[in-house]
Amino acid sequence: MALSSKMEKALNDQINAEFYSAYLYLAMSCQAQDLKLKGIANWFNIQYQEEIAHAMGLLKYVQDRGGRVTLSAIDGPRTQWENAVEMFKNTCEHEAIVTGLINNLVALATKEKDYAAIQFLNWYVNEQVEEEATADEILGELQLAQNSPGAMFMLDRELGARTFVAPTIG
Ligand code: FEO
Repeated sequence: MALSSKMEKALNDQINAEFYSAYLYLAMSCQAQDLKLKGIANWFNIQYQEEIAHAMGLLKYVQDRGGRVTLSAIDGPRTQWENAVEMFKNTCEHEAIVTGLINNLVALATKEKDYAAIQFLNWYVNEQVEEEATADEILGELQLAQNSPGAMFMLDRELGARTFVAPTIG
């Protein structure tokens, strides 16, 4: 079954949203580097790569369904945060917004009776649960550590150990 024009447009919009997320986390990675938080810079760099993978997963799906990918301009992200707590607060807020976008996509796929798209999008639904939980957990740890240079050093080191594993989407 071909993608409906509404689904095609919505999936293209989500490709743009995922690239915007990548851009936002790359900006956070650069800010963390400026703040000499190398581990957190690494964490956000991996997050940037994950978001690119999310965008590419959607892109391939549109193509697999015989749809047309139309890339559009990516908005410039915020580029300054005072500290790591502010960055992770922003991450939690942003991921909640993305969860809403994914939910809207599933709602549209349901309305369009596009059961294949619902199945595919399920991966993204689960991924959002994980992303929100992880960001929330790290925010909590940072809030505990923020007044202790030793604790912050250890946490930064821990976040520096994150590596990129290409996700299997769909
Ligand atoms: Fe692609 Fe962070 O959700």
